[in-house]
Amino acid sequence: MAALTFPANSRITGKGRDYRAEAGATRVKRFRIYRYDPDSGENPRYDTYDIDLDKTGPMVLDALIKIKNEVDPTLTFRRSCREGICGSCAMNIGGKNHLACTTSIEDCGSGETRITPLPHMEVVKDLVPDFTHFYAQYASIRPWLQTVTPNPGKERLQSPEQREKLDGLYECILCACCSTSCPSYWWNSDKFLGPAILLQAYRWLADSRDEMTGERLDELEDPFRLYRCHTIMNCANACPKGLNPAKAIAEIKIMQVERHG
Ligand code: SF4
Ligand code: SF4
Ligand code: FES
Repeated sequence: MAALTFPANSRITGKGRDYRAEAGATRVKRFRIYRYDPDSGENPRYDTYDIDLDKTGPMVLDALIKIKNEVDPTLTFRRSCREGICGSCAMNIGGKNHLACTTSIEDCGSGETRITPLPHMEVVKDLVPDFTHFYAQYASIRPWLQTVTPNPGKERLQSPEQREKLDGLYECILCACCSTSCPSYWWNSDKFLGPAILLQAYRWLADSRDEMTGERLDELEDPFRLYRCHTIMNCANACPKGLNPAKAIAEIKIMQVERHG
């Protein structure tokens, strides 16, 4: 069970720094960004950065890169692909979990926009959450094709219909926007696998080539791992790829019921 009080050193008490736009900027956007450096010994704080939109790319990630390159090189965040494929720039932008590279600054509105790390994860530094536990949970579902029949010496084929069953599942980029918006995961992430990992679990249960369906379902037959989902649906609203983890979880529950006849 998660702790219900936050450790003293996680409270936002530090005085933030303000970085104003250059003189002459006419279209200015303000970002208020969570800052935390464990090596400093200081509590977290918010820094504000005014960005000249006429000299910045259109996405929130463009603004973060501009800040890092031109204003404050100490700002730390993850990114790689900058086109919604790697999942590494997931963060909370204006109260919603999203990918910084696919969120346009324009859609953030004209006022100040607050950016924090994904909620309810340990913070490594600034906007970088610690994914160690999330990845361990991912590994626990054995996210690869498992077979028992002899290797056919060629590809294991699927019909178009069998392949279609993976649509809405294979596109998951493991960004964790869904899991970190799920109240059940906030409180029970030590035992509940959460929507991202359960969607991945269903991706293998739905794969006609996988031959470990019974064993996979056995692993999930647990009051916490699967059944802590209470169909609150935050996960589907949060997914930047338009996927529906709640539906995948419901499909696993149906498989559990059906196999017990
Ligand atoms: S539907 Fe289930 S997994 Fe999704 S947010 Fe709700 S409780 Fe969490
Ligand atoms: S289901 Fe969507 S929100 Fe969840 S990890 Fe996958 S891509 Fe991210
Ligand atoms: S940088 Fe890869 S998803 Fe945003």
